Amino acid sequence: MNEDGVDIQEQETVVIFDTTLRDGEQSPGATLNADEKLEIARQLSRLGVDICEAGFPIASPGDFDAVRRIAEEVGPLLDGRKSGQPMVIAGLARANKQDIQRAYDAVKVAPRHRIHTFLATSDIHLKHKLNLDREECIEQVIESVRFARSLCDDVEFSPEDAGRSDPDFLVQVLTEAIKAGATTLNIPDTVGYVAPEEYGWLINYLIENTPGADKVVWSTHCHNDLGLATANTLAGVKAGARQVEVTINGIGERAGNTSLEEVAMAIHTRPTFFNFTTNIDTTHITRTSRMVSAYTGMVVQPNKAIVGANAFAHEAGIHQDGMLKNQLTYEIMRPETVGLHASTLVLGKHSGRHAFRVRIEDLGYDDLEKDELEQAFQRFKRLADKKKVVTDADIEAIIADEIYQPPEIWKLNQIQVSCGDRSIPTVSVSLTGPDGTTYMDAALGTGPVDAAYQAINRIVGETPRLKEFSINAVTEGLDAQAEATIRIQPDNGDSKYALNPQTSQHYARTYSGHGASTDIVVASARAYLSALNKMLAASTETSSVVEQVAVAGD
Ligand code: KIV
Ligand code: ZN
Repeated sequence: MNEDGVDIQEQETVVIFDTTLRDGEQSPGATLNADEKLEIARQLSRLGVDICEAGFPIASPGDFDAVRRIAEEVGPLLDGRKSGQPMVIAGLARANKQDIQRAYDAVKVAPRHRIHTFLATSDIHLKHKLNLDREECIEQVIESVRFARSLCDDVEFSPEDAGRSDPDFLVQVLTEAIKAGATTLNIPDTVGYVAPEEYGWLINYLIENTPGADKVVWSTHCHNDLGLATANTLAGVKAGARQVEVTINGIGERAGNTSLEEVAMAIHTRPTFFNFTTNIDTTHITRTSRMVSAYTGMVVQPNKAIVGANAFAHEAGIHQDGMLKNQLTYEIMRPETVGLHASTLVLGKHSGRHAFRVRIEDLGYDDLEKDELEQAFQRFKRLADKKKVVTDADIEAIIADEIYQPPEIWKLNQIQVSCGDRSIPTVSVSLTGPDGTTYMDAALGTGPVDAAYQAINRIVGETPRLKEFSINAVTEGLDAQAEATIRIQPDNGDSKYALNPQTSQHYARTYSGHGASTDIVVASARAYLSALNKMLAASTETSSVVEQVAVAGD
């Protein structure tokens, strides 16, 4: 029995299938490079994710390599996982032999691996996208699932756009998929169209009417176009699904996918209502959310459930009064449960390496290399000179800024700003280039950040378009560190980075960057350089997002 009087022995486990690196990465501008994908996959493993959909291997050689590296390096990891088993590494494939073989080749080195294949079943997709009739669709499913099963024991099949498919046709398709060897059947609401009662009804209908339903795991996959993804997913679980497909921070195509943290915390917080458990270590949620946000450049909205900046803030006087009397009045979850530590004084400028390391490990960063630790420590010392109170949030910002960065092709040495209400903002910048030489230049701008970016552009020789820029204070107080997040796109005019290296066509790939400093111009310049470095490094990689869009339209 737990403290809520629930018999934990009796609770069934809902399997968490994370698709941050596949469906999440397909969201506009969330492009990740291979190193970032690897880091995120490691963190998903620590978080306790059961299945990690690492990508769409056929989409590009870059995607294939990233999935293979994850299978090789993260696939075997067991570090503190509640389930006692390593993650299953899954690769997505359309329902054809070439895709399936490619997915298998990418994941097969993982001790536990899965092929996930899909084919649309709604009349609208069959007619307008695939030009197939229902008979041909069934044939293709049988052939593909059978082929996947000849390679791998763990095969998932998804009837894309199931939410708008004829339920009786779905029963026919899924019956054949089971006979052909599928072990998991996933029911996607691809366009985020259905309501919770309908989705629960559909899952129940399929389980009740599909022969062999008891031999497979049923899975949910919901999109959030109407803001119903989490509600639909939980309705699906109540109706009999035992796997949920989710992403960190709910990132994904358009309005996103179901968010992992919302489902995991709903199940955790309402044990008597749901009567399920998961293998998620909830104390890793905040760190995972921050890492995904930093790498993708997708800022989490402040009022986002579980991981938004305000999720645990009690501002209204009446709430604060209640909280002071008894936390249960307004708090249904403890911040520590999701790994959110109170922003209290933790270290000062006299703290040494040992205290710093202990604090960092307490925060869950127990995997930093020696030189990374030293780098973060030096940065902490510089911050402690400027800021009296160095909090956990500050330390997390330092780690994000120092460690979770792309390789530095251009490095910021120095930046000097002159601005005010009666002067033209002027910035001079010194950078070290890829050849080790120091370059200096200066520029005017409409404001200091604009001037800094112009000066950097003059040195680097690129003029990317700024798609998004945001700056937030990491903590309270006037001496707070600022964290800048930025997204850029290569200039369509003459930048070679606007060309898809495989097809030489123009494409709108977005690169994100983040930077932290007590000075907002420095934070902004760091963020800009981090995005630029990603863009420059990508010239050797191939596009994934663009090809995935093309693939989805096939
Ligand atoms: O939303 C969807 O239909 C998908 C499938 C490929 C599972 O992402
Ligand atoms: Zn999807």
